[in-house]
Amino acid sequence: MKNLISINDFSREEILRIMELAGEFERRPYQPLLEGRVVASLFFEPSTRTRLSFESAINRLGARVIGFSDTSSTSVTKGETFHDTIMTISNYCDMIVMRHSLEGAPRYAGEISRVPVVNAGDGANQHPSQTLLDLYSIQKTQGRLDGLNITMVGDMKYGRTVHSLLQAMSQFGARFTFIAPAELALPEEYRIYLRDRNIEFREKTALEGSLDDADIIYMTRVQRERFNDPIEYERVKNVYVLRDDMLASTKENMRILHPLPRVNEIDYKVDANPKAYYFPQTENGVWVRMAIISYLFGVK
Ligand code: CP
Repeated sequence: MKNLISINDFSREEILRIMELAGEFERRPYQPLLEGRVVASLFFEPSTRTRLSFESAINRLGARVIGFSDTSSTSVTKGETFHDTIMTISNYCDMIVMRHSLEGAPRYAGEISRVPVVNAGDGANQHPSQTLLDLYSIQKTQGRLDGLNITMVGDMKYGRTVHSLLQAMSQFGARFTFIAPAELALPEEYRIYLRDRNIEFREKTALEGSLDDADIIYMTRVQRERFNDPIEYERVKNVYVLRDDMLASTKENMRILHPLPRVNEIDYKVDANPKAYYFPQTENGVWVRMAIISYLFGVK
């Protein structure tokens, strides 16, 4: 029984297999390979893309979905523990997809559950299924995963998509630029991770003048929900706004990704620029999540 809790649970070969499977699902988007299976979709924290693309993927594979999109209608409101909730629901399904605001909650669920657990995002820690769809989007737009310049902008501190993506792209010899205000700089543990693997990276605070060598610009939202101090959030919330005029001197084949939701960090005029790829990226989530589910079920 294999879980997907961290992107490091998948080897380079497994990542490439997911890319291959996702391509097959994109070509044939309805394949009832999992008829009769039940997948529980447990979202203890809000979501649009991750929950609905997982549920779309489950339906397209012929399986059925049970679950909740918030805990207000569950016995969590009566004081039921996370442990008891997972112990119970793992008796009702063949796989659990879950999101939680608490870092480590999916790992704990994976330890006690009778069925495989997929982490759909835990606090500021990891978002491995997002990373796999990011990789699929990068491969589709760049024609390869190896040896790319990845520029990440925004919240390097609490951004779980950033943390998972830098670990995954480290397996493909990426060179990174991290652009963040001092308050949201990359945590030391990730700098150590990169240094230990001799991965080239630089850290900057200015967006202007930092984009021209990028193959991928990965924009992120400053996440209000991660701040204990609202004044600190107000200080940094609009620190970067990507505008169309900033893209003129970027590489022809550069593409802008964003895990979304967007708040203010990409001007709406950028949406019409051919370098904007964040909405096609959301569609890729369906193919990649079909690939993840069928791979974890061991479908041949
Ligand atoms: N990218 C992402 O995790 O979006 P949602 O929060 O809408 O699921």
